[in-house]
Amino acid sequence: MSDQTAAPKKENSKPADGEHKTSFWGFIGQALGLAFTYRLLASLVALALLVQIGFNLLMPLSYRYIFDKAIVNKDMPLLAMLLGILAVGFLLNAGAGLMQDFGTATIGSRISKSLQERMFANLQKQSTDFFSKTPQGDIVACFGPDVMAIETALVRGLPSFCMRLVTIVTSLVLLFVIEWRLAMVALVLMPMIAFAPKPFGPRARKFGRSRDDLQSGNAGLVQENLLNHLTIRTFNLSKYREQQFGERLTRLQEDDFRANFFTSMIGRSTNVAAGFLQIGVLGVGAILAVMGFLTTGLLIAFIGLLLNIGGATDNLTQAIPLLVQGMNSYSRIQKLLGAQPALPDSPTATALPAIQENLKLQGVEFAYQADHPILRGVDIEIPAGKTVAIVGGSGSGKSTVLSLLMRLYDPNKGKILLDNVDLRDGTEASLRAQTSVVLQNTALFDTSIAENIRMGRLDATDDEIVAAAKDAGIHDLIETFPDGYQSVVGSQGGSLSGGQRQRIAIARALLRNPRILFLDEATSALDAHTEAEIGATLDAISADWTVVSVTHRFTHITNYDLIIVMEKGQVVESGTHEELLAKDGRYAMLWRKQSGFTITDDGKASVSVERLRGIPFLSECSDEVLQKLSKSLVSESFAAGKPVFEEGEPGSKFYIVARGKLENYVKLEGDKETPLGMLDDGDYFGEMALIRPVPRTWSVRAVVDSTCISLDRQQFMELMDADPKLKEAVTTTAYERAAEWTQAIMEAADA
Ligand SMILES: Nc1ncnc2c1ncn2[C@@H]1O[C@H](COP(=O)(O)OP(=O)(O)O)[C@@H](O)[C@H]1O
Ligand SMILES: [Mg+2]
Repeated sequence: MSDQTAAPKKENSKPADGEHKTSFWGFIGQALGLAFTYRLLASLVALALLVQIGFNLLMPLSYRYIFDKAIVNKDMPLLAMLLGILAVGFLLNAGAGLMQDFGTATIGSRISKSLQERMFANLQKQSTDFFSKTPQGDIVACFGPDVMAIETALVRGLPSFCMRLVTIVTSLVLLFVIEWRLAMVALVLMPMIAFAPKPFGPRARKFGRSRDDLQSGNAGLVQENLLNHLTIRTFNLSKYREQQFGERLTRLQEDDFRANFFTSMIGRSTNVAAGFLQIGVLGVGAILAVMGFLTTGLLIAFIGLLLNIGGATDNLTQAIPLLVQGMNSYSRIQKLLGAQPALPDSPTATALPAIQENLKLQGVEFAYQADHPILRGVDIEIPAGKTVAIVGGSGSGKSTVLSLLMRLYDPNKGKILLDNVDLRDGTEASLRAQTSVVLQNTALFDTSIAENIRMGRLDATDDEIVAAAKDAGIHDLIETFPDGYQSVVGSQGGSLSGGQRQRIAIARALLRNPRILFLDEATSALDAHTEAEIGATLDAISADWTVVSVTHRFTHITNYDLIIVMEKGQVVESGTHEELLAKDGRYAMLWRKQSGFTITDDGKASVSVERLRGIPFLSECSDEVLQKLSKSLVSESFAAGKPVFEEGEPGSKFYIVARGKLENYVKLEGDKETPLGMLDDGDYFGEMALIRPVPRTWSVRAVVDSTCISLDRQQFMELMDADPKLKEAVTTTAYERAAEWTQAIMEAADA
């Protein structure tokens, strides 16, 4: 039924670069098409342009009658009539100009609005995948400079381009009508204008580029001088640097001169050629007039038309860059408009039932990238109204399962069923209406707290918002703000702490009163105290909801109805906390890894002797040694983003993660960071430093606020001296793990 639609949506939203490349004339067609979506306005503009073109032709043509008929015959009434016609034409022309400005301004602003509306609407339908692949800057630019460029192309470029083009063509035709021999002379001389600047253009560009390069190079040199001023002073390098700078300046001066000169020559040579044309036409025309082939009036009309063509060509060359810019912007915008929405509802989709029985993954296989399977044959049943935790190491696929349950992606194989209906057969709206989600780090909208909570359900009353805030345990804090619920928080949450922001996110999720609540590490970035509080709040209020909580921390899920343990994209165990502990499998192991740590309210961590014994190289130690050891341990906190140590630093400490999340990485090829996996509660690292002061071979950095327990080599040395077995054990472990590390780093380098 739905397997053919099962491809992950990245297939669809892949930016199709080739698709939107248009030629210049293609874009003129598209631009006209855009403008003529406003048929009446666009027709008015076209009419206005025709009137102006007509007047531009009327002016030179009228010279003929003024000179040949009115002036020669001293015919005052005719002159008055001609001038009258010109005056009326002039007024019409001015009116038409006004109409054009009004029309193009209206069309431009409407198109700009409608393009932005369409882009914004389409953007919101895009997949998570689209957002991870498209640079934010590109998207934002579509709404700023790109829309502006299209508006400019439509308001100024297009009308000017059309009008000048028609003017040039009709003027040329008229030239031939007036006197074909003279027109031929003009036509022969005209290419001169085009060719005259040819020798200068490439040179101007070449020297211009070279000047720009030299200029930015010089700026770099100056900057370098500022940075290194102490080195320059202490090594007495100022003369040397001056000489270096001087040489560059000389080259810059030469290229600067050439660039300016050749650029000027482009304009100059065009002017000279145009002068030639005028003199040539005037000369030949005058001879033809003397010979009686041409009247004075016609000659003047002819030259008038010729000037018309010159002026129009000038304007045309100004309009073309505007259009080219508009063309490029339009192709970027079309790419955004053309991006396929993520998982659109199938035409036969019906509303999903409100959950009664269960939510199931059935034989689910999934990959973000074709050859990188993430989930391999996952079966999970989430009974309605129960609390279910999905646990497992980092990267085991927990969040991916949640994304599939929320239908942010479709599985490649297998099904996701809600009360036995495939999610792909249901509408997105009917799924969203019964679900709510809290993610690890919630960004708030730049508006009031009340509005931020209201995003959960747009028609909620103020009382309901307050009730949700009370349930999330944030009401009392909000009340202390001078503006209360109307306080504006800013997109980064302003002065709110991570925990407070998370509570607002929870209030938002609660306001929705969902049947199904998804939590993805909703509280794990918070301190232990806040996490426990929020955990209790959630337990209390979600009693009759279906709760699916993805977490890597076990302390708050011991009372859950079902715990699913994942590893490498597969379910390896499931059951209640007690059942899983009794099984003594993967969960029990992870549980032991995480337990034994105590964190006080002021954030100081300690670890039990029993837990220390869980570290392989300490397992053989006597209680006495471990007691001593635990007294030497120090609690250290690392704020999110702060390094624990960096590659190359001499190592002096061993660390155990009491709580938090840290990442390992190495810098390969220049400065590119290559990730080497994550560390969380109960992991330990850096034991090599306990035996030898070797430089660290990788870096560790906190991803969220983390607390570690550290042990210094100096203190460990004393213990080792007392216990030779310990020395042997730690040495073996350290070298074994170092070998694994080296392997991992080499693999990362290969990849
Ligand atoms: N959008 C994505 N594109 C490609 N790979 C991804 C994406 N999201 C996650 N992954 C990869 O899928 C694997 C499972 O990730 P995830 O489900 O987030 O794990 P967990 O939540 O258990 O830490 C990881 O190897 C991760 O690198
Ligand atoms: Mg995750």
